[in-house]
Amino acid sequence: MDSLLCGRLLAAGNEVLGLGDLFTGLCLNIDELLDNRRFELMWHDVIWCMLVPSMDSPTHSGYIDPWDHEALDYRGLSDRDGVLVKPDGSGYPVRGGVARFIGRDPLDDWILKCIGVVRATEGPTQSQASVESFGFQWNWDSNPRTEEDLLWRVATRFGLDPAVFSDKRVLDAGCGAGAQSEFLAKAGAQVSAVDLSSAIDVAARRPELRDARLAQGDLAHLPFANAAFDIVYCEGVLQHTAATEPILAEFSRVLVPGGMLLATHYLRPEGVLRTACWVAHEGLRSLAKRLPREWLFLASGVAAAAALVPGLGWPLRKTLVPTNVRMPTLKATWSNVYDSYGQHEFQRHLRLDEYFGAVRAAGFTSVEQPGAEVAPWRKKFDGDRTP
Ligand SMILES: C[S@@+](CC[C@H](N)C(=O)[O-])C[C@H]1O[C@@H](n2cnc3c(N)ncnc32)[C@H](O)[C@@H]1O
Repeated sequence: MDSLLCGRLLAAGNEVLGLGDLFTGLCLNIDELLDNRRFELMWHDVIWCMLVPSMDSPTHSGYIDPWDHEALDYRGLSDRDGVLVKPDGSGYPVRGGVARFIGRDPLDDWILKCIGVVRATEGPTQSQASVESFGFQWNWDSNPRTEEDLLWRVATRFGLDPAVFSDKRVLDAGCGAGAQSEFLAKAGAQVSAVDLSSAIDVAARRPELRDARLAQGDLAHLPFANAAFDIVYCEGVLQHTAATEPILAEFSRVLVPGGMLLATHYLRPEGVLRTACWVAHEGLRSLAKRLPREWLFLASGVAAAAALVPGLGWPLRKTLVPTNVRMPTLKATWSNVYDSYGQHEFQRHLRLDEYFGAVRAAGFTSVEQPGAEVAPWRKKFDGDRTP
């Protein structure tokens, strides 16, 4: 059904009953349609059910609370589409199985307007350029990681067996396209995942995450209750945020006492050569990120291909082009290169003691570094937690 066609039918004097997916297309004339007494709307599928409050058919007043959340009610026809409403009357849409705590999709805004809910205003603490760059990257390559890489990334380097995740409530903070959330779900975790960008929609399409709680939101304003998780997992994200401390404080808040944080952060390199490479890389990035996205993307592909040339690519691999032996394909390397030079705003490197300090300041009492590389950290959080 098309809303413009409805308008034309009404103009011709007909009575119109709109069925189903009317609003999955353009809804330019929706206010006029809803004002017209000869127009009625009926839902028969997984479609927004709260759009027209005056329609009080039982099928339009489902009440579900899939979030088990202290502060929010869920009103929707299905668990994948609806609206989360706060007691103060503000709220957030849920679309495609993802609660939208940030984002400015016109359809979301329109839906909230229709049901008289004001969008809650927290966040985001990221620039739109970062959000779009990450969204582009993860939509282009949603599966750069091999099984071997996932096992190493999520478990082995933290000195953990994947069995540790079984039956645990785990938050994948900054989940990107959700490959690691999927790994966690397969390991038996009850997964919740948050990302700021449209990468969360890629995650939402993974069948293994069908039961996961997915949110498009900002890590600095996590949409979860205190002590909601046993483990917070945050891989490759903190360095890309505006500031590490507020996010660590949020992780601390949502973890149970004794819960565990697994989080990585880029560290400042040590030694003259490594420092020189890093300075050159960051200098190049500050220029590259000003390029139009298509150019930067193309240049990343060329650099990735050059770095993979046996022998000749060696100097590139050792200096400016990040490669990963566990993700050896051209596409994965291309994705990595784009990730390291991309248009995201922040790419911060901390000193080890700064990172330790930030973690302790957030209330984590036992801090371990079981591996090397990009600073994988395992942090246990004991005792009473003061949010
Ligand atoms: C380099 S990607 C890592 C994704 C994933 N953890 C992985 O390793 O495959 C960084 C992700 O963090 C997300 N991100 C950055 N800042 C964020 C913030 N403030 N809140 C939520 N997500 C954020 C980006 O959208 C992006 O998907």
